[in-house]
Amino acid sequence: MNLNIKDKVAIVTGASRGIGKAIVYKLVSYGCKVVLISRNLDDLKKVEKDLNTEKVMCFQCDITKQQEFKVIVSKVVDLWGSLDILINNAGITKDKLLLRMNESDWVDVIDVNLKGCYNTIKVASNQMIRKKQGKIVNITSVIGQIGNSGQANYAASKSGIEGLTRSLAVEFGSRNININCIAPGYIETDMTKNLDKKVIQDMKNNIPLNKFGLTSDISEVVCFLVSDLSSFITGQVINVDGGMTIK
Ligand code: NAI
Repeated sequence: MNLNIKDKVAIVTGASRGIGKAIVYKLVSYGCKVVLISRNLDDLKKVEKDLNTEKVMCFQCDITKQQEFKVIVSKVVDLWGSLDILINNAGITKDKLLLRMNESDWVDVIDVNLKGCYNTIKVASNQMIRKKQGKIVNITSVIGQIGNSGQANYAASKSGIEGLTRSLAVEFGSRNININCIAPGYIETDMTKNLDKKVIQDMKNNIPLNKFGLTSDISEVVCFLVSDLSSFITGQVINVDGGMTIK
């Protein structure tokens, strides 16, 4: 199957580890040129060194600051001539019951997860509209759909991204820009690795496929959504959750 994304220029936010890092490796394996963004340059440099290819660049950037992202996009367009793909993967949690959740717990999560997507899309879509082509994928979460105790801020941010995505799909449709979400369920990352064995088994019992997903389960769907194979799909949320949300 030819995805036809060779030499397309992609930006991946939150690329230093976990799901973002896996997305970078997969896009590079299909021949994309990839710009890695996160708050920690040292971690990004490690990924860049390991990939050892001229098809990768990395920049430190806090996506809550639109101006920082704007400067990076200008550099990318100067050096590589275009921006074809944006993957909004960066995200944070600050879990607390509402009773104990203070304003900064709320604001910080909304700022990174939701406003961060607004910032990057606002800048990147300028380039895409000019070229009359583009693919945007936002990584949300099943928690944005089903909610979770202690995650009101996170759930609100992730369902907010779904609304943003549907609205922009309508605005961008005539500009030949596809924008979609992937909502992961439980994925094996550093976050889930340290959980108690009993907790892990209970969680797995609630998943029809009876296992956690791998980062590659997400990255493969990302590559499908940025390829021509999905050119008639926009404004959608694809759940990659082992069936967790159908129960
Ligand atoms: P992670 O915590 O391992 O990595 C997050 C990345 O985002 C890091 O590179 C970090 O530096 C970056 N980041 C955070 N704040 C940033 C900011 N202000 N500016 C720029 N970069 C920033 O996360 P993980 O587990 O790989 O998750 C990635 C995405 O997938 C997140 O959006 C998360 O909400 C979502 N997700 C993860 C699930 C899981 O099981 N791991 C389940 C459902 C959704």
